[in-house]
Amino acid sequence: MSPNKSVTSAQISIKLLHWYDEFGREMPWRVSPADQIRGILPNPYHIWLSEIMLQQTQVVTVTGYFQAFLSNWPEVHDLANAKDADVMARWAGLGYYARARNLLKTARIISKDFSGIFPKTEAGLRALPGVGPYTAAAITAIAHGQKATVLDGNIERVMARLFLVTAPLPDSKPTLYDLAAKATPDARVGDYVQGLMDLGATICTPRSPDCGNCPIRPDCRANATGNAESLPRKLAKKPKPTRNGIVYFAYTDAGKMLLETRPQKGLLGGMLALPSSEWVTGTPEPAPPISANWQVLPEQIRHVFTHFKLNLTVHMAKISGPEQLQDGFADFPDPNILPTVMRKAYRLALINIKNPSRSGQKIKGAP
Ligand code: ADE
Repeated sequence: MSPNKSVTSAQISIKLLHWYDEFGREMPWRVSPADQIRGILPNPYHIWLSEIMLQQTQVVTVTGYFQAFLSNWPEVHDLANAKDADVMARWAGLGYYARARNLLKTARIISKDFSGIFPKTEAGLRALPGVGPYTAAAITAIAHGQKATVLDGNIERVMARLFLVTAPLPDSKPTLYDLAAKATPDARVGDYVQGLMDLGATICTPRSPDCGNCPIRPDCRANATGNAESLPRKLAKKPKPTRNGIVYFAYTDAGKMLLETRPQKGLLGGMLALPSSEWVTGTPEPAPPISANWQVLPEQIRHVFTHFKLNLTVHMAKISGPEQLQDGFADFPDPNILPTVMRKAYRLALINIKNPSRSGQKIKGAP
């Protein structure tokens, strides 16, 4: 790296930190620059929890979940001692449920093996379940104030524009990582990376970037060449395949319904759910959990997962004889404890209970 280049990087980080001091967003896990001057330090438990939640989810959605987790489990030891089912129910709606299972595993490791202290190095953090290179770097920088290269989607966009990287993502990731590493200052690393995230979220936005208000506009090569909005380039994504499935809503007049906990491994692992067929590309094989007079609802549920789209048909049956009531029948739950796709099916079924004229035809061949 030439001496000139490092001077430029230092100037960029100084301008960005000034901007962050004034315009940085408040978030419940953050400690503002003013509070840090007063000696308040970021809490590694808060930073880890927020970073796990933020892995696939936007800040606006995470905020409420983060606060609910902290009020239920204020310390990592509390989370470590929580019941799995309670944590999974609190996570419902955030998606990517492996994150919640790994969250619990990590909380238990930190509480029992590390006396509640999070590792201070990226390598130590990466050894924890659910902590990948991005999250380890973010915790190192934000919670411990140690230098680390943090590259999320927002920072990729800022780097691509600042340094005019025209090669498309994802191939350009290593280049963007190197540029981000060189631009990272030695001091105030946590504020710096959060400043870049905020710049990407509020000014250097994917569409219509607000370059007029950007603190590092004079340093931005994409702005100078009129390319900001077209960067970063991205290779076209493969279209998602569609799968089909059936979910079964068995209920009683006494307000009970059949629910099951999904196997720990696999999609929605460990979550409470309606019994379901396999989800397949063609026509799903029916797999009713009990023999009953199943009715097919005319509307389908649609849901988009990371790798496929899902169409679910809801089959409903009212169970009357006590002989059919088996383990798994429970009071109608608060929909919020179900994962989003199951919440959609549950809501549709409830609408049909209230308004039976909407219900569909009897299933051919049903007992
Ligand atoms: N996304 C991931 N981590 C973040 C943070 N600390 N602030 C804002 N957005 C984020």
